[in-house]
Amino acid sequence: MFDLKAIRNEFPMLRNATKMQGHDLVWLDNASTTFKPDAVLEAVTRYYTSETSNSHRGDYDLCYNMDQEVLKTRKAVASFIHCDPSEVVFTSGATMSLNLVAFGYAATHLGKDDEILLNEAEHASNILPWYKVAEITGCKVRFIPLDKQGRLTPENLENAFTPSTKLVCVAHVSNVLGYVAPIKELAAICHKHGALICVDGAQSVPHFATDVKDLDCDFLAFSGHKLCGPTGIGVLYGKFDLLRATDAFMSGGGMNVKFDKQGGATYLEPPARFEAGTQNLEGIMGLGAAIEFINRIGIDNVARHERELKRYAVSKILATGKATIYNPDSESGIVTFNVDGVFAQDAATYFNSKGIACRSGQHCAKVLNDFLGTVATVRASFYLYTTKEDIDALVDAIDKCKGEFLNAYF
Ligand SMILES: Cc1ncc(COP(=O)(O)O)c(C=O)c1O
Repeated sequence: MFDLKAIRNEFPMLRNATKMQGHDLVWLDNASTTFKPDAVLEAVTRYYTSETSNSHRGDYDLCYNMDQEVLKTRKAVASFIHCDPSEVVFTSGATMSLNLVAFGYAATHLGKDDEILLNEAEHASNILPWYKVAEITGCKVRFIPLDKQGRLTPENLENAFTPSTKLVCVAHVSNVLGYVAPIKELAAICHKHGALICVDGAQSVPHFATDVKDLDCDFLAFSGHKLCGPTGIGVLYGKFDLLRATDAFMSGGGMNVKFDKQGGATYLEPPARFEAGTQNLEGIMGLGAAIEFINRIGIDNVARHERELKRYAVSKILATGKATIYNPDSESGIVTFNVDGVFAQDAATYFNSKGIACRSGQHCAKVLNDFLGTVATVRASFYLYTTKEDIDALVDAIDKCKGEFLNAYF
């Protein structure tokens, strides 16, 4: 059962009546990061209070227990996204996961005659690593045009393909417009042309069910902190054969079988090959607890709740007649808008004065602004603990924003 009040009570940031500018905090920046429930904080604390040890580095019980904790989370992630545990690599977050594909796979498999396809809605973390690959290999990066709404369509992908296209990198959900890309269809097109698809799941995995086998994506990246887990922990999923063909772009302890004085080294099989050095063990334990928490609530309930909030927010904001929404039809819990006549950052500053946290600016998707025809927008993003009252507070602030803002500053 989805009991919003009970769910909110599990989050100290919500339970403790956190204030901002003297108001009860209204947190509408969940696409940036999410609050952590007690279970996650307890798991992280448990690492420090009763389970401190390293993984794979000792023959005593604590170390063995830690190996079991790491394995438990790896299995939990695998069942959450429907893959084999051997295909789950722990990283520091979506950014590192995408860089691992860029430097470990693309930089070693692409050449000057090849090309990578991106689109204008991508986050910096799914554009800049590919620019680096282009610098290293001489390959080209091209952008697939979006449709009028800002969606990436199978037709536009098909039309953008050339015989040189070897890799397509796309977000499952855009962090600005919130459109859900049809990954299964996109993957089928990529594979028909003999190319790979790397999916940025930072804004999708926390919000609706993900089945990597059904989607047939080749790589998928996401971050723990956007799904109620700790910061500094993330995941790269890769089809096992592709992970085997991927170079470790970081090497050190925990990822090798042996090495000698002549420079020879043999590396472990994936996923260990990509987890050099001491892992973020408390992060891994916290991520495991976050996934358990979301499974308890039910990811489909999370998705349903967010869709309902999105519908509610769009209708209420439009009813003010004082804002322009850039993505009224997108499927996820992201509303990107401007208060008419007020610059985005000014609006966000005004919202802050009312205790409301929204993101403003370009949201790390700096090539999307040309498409949107504006220099900056405000983004309100929801999660499983967001209430209609949170949205009402935002709507009230939108309604008063222009008048009060102008009165205060001019
Ligand atoms: C679509 C998308 N991709 C990648 C990232 C990067 O995530 P992280 O900073 O957790 O690595 C973000 C973060 O906002 C994002 O929204």
